[in-house]
Amino acid sequence: MPGLLLGDEAPDFEAETTQGRIRFHDFLGDSWGILFSHPRDFTPVCTTELGRAAKLAAEFSKRNVKMIALSIDSVQDHLSWSKDINAYNGEQPKEKLPFPIIADANRELAVKLGMLDPDERDKDGMPLTARVVFVFGPDKKLKLSILYPATTGRNFDEILRVVDSLQLTAYKKVATPVDWKPGDSVMVVPTLPDEEAKKLFPKGVFTKDLPSGKKYLRYTPQPE
Ligand code: BEZ
Repeated sequence: MPGLLLGDEAPDFEAETTQGRIRFHDFLGDSWGILFSHPRDFTPVCTTELGRAAKLAAEFSKRNVKMIALSIDSVQDHLSWSKDINAYNGEQPKEKLPFPIIADANRELAVKLGMLDPDERDKDGMPLTARVVFVFGPDKKLKLSILYPATTGRNFDEILRVVDSLQLTAYKKVATPVDWKPGDSVMVVPTLPDEEAKKLFPKGVFTKDLPSGKKYLRYTPQPE
């Protein structure tokens, strides 16, 4: 099945959305972008996910990340469902969400982007769209992809956390260790020589001793 691999350029598709027709590259502009897909409108897990995404919109915007969702149904269904999502969030049941939702009624985009879940089917036996997250950099290249089946809701705090990690790598040339949270120490990447690391990270580089004697566990406080 076609899909997207890390480093691939985002396809420059055109689509109808709840905020009008878009061309994906124009939509992204010079920003980072997150595209997250959903199996179907008016379904319980999707409603909780889109509610959480709406609540976190200001956090994504602070990080210069444009959000866009995709679901199988029509624009009209998406608008009507958006009222439920706002109500679920305890807000006025209005049609507007802080991001557009793409209408992919005939699954064309889901197929093109490798998003179908073969185990979850609609009443006509057609596979539903899985829960995919694509994060694109300002160069429109795929920086991260997450693929969950239709039955498992995503953790949007984790999605923000990975955006923070991706941006630290892009702007500060560091990696983030297991269970890293913003504010924790980060790791110097293996390809950076010690002398350069000292210059690049004035807060210091701290190496953990290991039985192998190899000095590869190098930490530095999170750069500003
Ligand atoms: C849901 O969003 O609740 C859902 C959608 C498709 C399959 C299973 C769950």
